[in-house]
Amino acid sequence: MNTRKPKLRSAAWFGTADKNGFMYRSWMKNQGIPDHEFAGKPIIGICNTWSELTPCNAHFRKLAEHVKRGIYEAGGFPVEFPVFSNGESNLRPTAMFTRNLASMDVEESIRGNPVDAVVLLVGCDKTTPALLMGAASCDVPAIAVTGGPMLNGKHEGRDIGSGTVVWQLSEQVKAGKISIHEFMSAEAGMSRSAGTCNTMGTASTMACMAEALGVTLPHNAAIPAVDARRYVLAHMSGMRIVEMALEDLRLSKLLTREAFENAIRTNAAIGGSTNAAIHLKAIAGRIGVPLELDDWTRIGRGTPTLVDLQPSGRFLMEEFYYAGGLPAVLRRLGEANLLPHPDALTANGKTLWENVREAPIHNAEVIRPLDNPLVQDGGLCVLRGNLAPNGAVLKPSAATQKLLKHRGRAVVFENFDDYKARIGDPGLDVTADSVLVMKNCGPKGYPGMAEVGNMGLPPKLLAQGVTDMVRVSDARMSGTAYGTVVLHVAPEARAGGPLAIVRNGDWIELDCEKGVLRVDISDETIVARLDEWAANQHPIPADRSGYRKLYVEHVLQADEGCDFDFLVGCRGSDVPRHSH
Ligand code: FES
Repeated sequence: MNTRKPKLRSAAWFGTADKNGFMYRSWMKNQGIPDHEFAGKPIIGICNTWSELTPCNAHFRKLAEHVKRGIYEAGGFPVEFPVFSNGESNLRPTAMFTRNLASMDVEESIRGNPVDAVVLLVGCDKTTPALLMGAASCDVPAIAVTGGPMLNGKHEGRDIGSGTVVWQLSEQVKAGKISIHEFMSAEAGMSRSAGTCNTMGTASTMACMAEALGVTLPHNAAIPAVDARRYVLAHMSGMRIVEMALEDLRLSKLLTREAFENAIRTNAAIGGSTNAAIHLKAIAGRIGVPLELDDWTRIGRGTPTLVDLQPSGRFLMEEFYYAGGLPAVLRRLGEANLLPHPDALTANGKTLWENVREAPIHNAEVIRPLDNPLVQDGGLCVLRGNLAPNGAVLKPSAATQKLLKHRGRAVVFENFDDYKARIGDPGLDVTADSVLVMKNCGPKGYPGMAEVGNMGLPPKLLAQGVTDMVRVSDARMSGTAYGTVVLHVAPEARAGGPLAIVRNGDWIELDCEKGVLRVDISDETIVARLDEWAANQHPIPADRSGYRKLYVEHVLQADEGCDFDFLVGCRGSDVPRHSH
């Protein structure tokens, strides 16, 4: 069968019977590849984030093998290559610090190599946005395959959720309710199979975002990592990407403004992570789709949260899949006319609605009906005011409802080290009504925007039974965490945002309904304090060289997606052709 189409970019490498074609093919043949693999078949790159240091993606060699089976079956030729793997649990200072680095690796690996389309193997938090960002900047046909969530954690006869149980039990240790030994005994039971965090943390959220965006096959988000159906999905994705290569179904046909609006609405319905606001903005920026923080208010707010998963609710990703997974959620939204763009095209060539309109719903406790939601008014709350001129976010479904309108005095920590040093001080001047404020944890300040915004509460208040307080920072928060936590304050303190000049005792006002975050001081005082702050700034030696210098000088603020300023945009897949 002659499947060669002029549009296949790999023909520029392998399609000529001359000196150049000889050289490109000859070196590849050292892997035992026969002639016919170069005879016009779509060459499919498998972009693999496998790493033993990214435990959530450590099963990806097997996943890649199943993708390859599908590619071969459909008449393509698979070529697997490694890219930088952002492991959330191990990487310092944060996995976010290297998200953009990974995206550059992906972009240049795709553009520079003879691939007609790519399968993106993603899982642990940052690998999903990193690979979508890199592939979007090339605008080649691409399909994402997620590694899937871990099985439910088990401890003392009950289910425990990745990350969420760590926050819960460590607070109980500080409050003196359980011993450190009881805490440590949960360790092995929390992560007991391959896969990503089993809560609706950032990995599960981004897997749902990828599915809602239409860049995966249906059910990609929720099938457990060790379920045989995960490998069937990998196989089918391999088959489908060959067709997508021949159809020239590029990412720009899937990642439209409409697709992002569907994803924002979906994030509200699943009780998704605040990190999605940063990552979707970054992905949209790469494909050239305008997306603003206020879109999260306009499209997301008012949407009921239907998925009853930790950290907002009770269940875990296993139950989510068995209840029907994301297609069931999208069906519920669609039937209530809450799916903004049901006609958006998806990777399998069907519309989003065609994929989900008959999706079965097996458990109305896990995927709740619209008249009995987990949270009536889900979605992210976008806040603005003199403390966050360019915005901040809060996740109401993970917060204490009575704290969503609050006024309290600031207890200020200059950075995370200052917080760690003083939060346990019995003499700390703090009450349950105080607002914990932490600075210098933003994109430039940490650097890498640490997931420390859900500061643990002062032990002396925990011992009194306090379970939540308003917290404000320029940091991020793990998607597995919870609390009345204002995050992503922009501009960040290190960039000279007003957060930099908040002092102990200043009154802070939070009003989620009105979208307000302000410090109760005059504009003149803010300007005077900022002048004083600027006069005392000194370059940090560690920021003067290496990748860290590039990062600090070029990273954008949270409301802009934390991409590097020079990476925003779609650069296409053309590459200058050089003769040997
Ligand atoms: Fe990898 Fe949570 S640490 S998904």
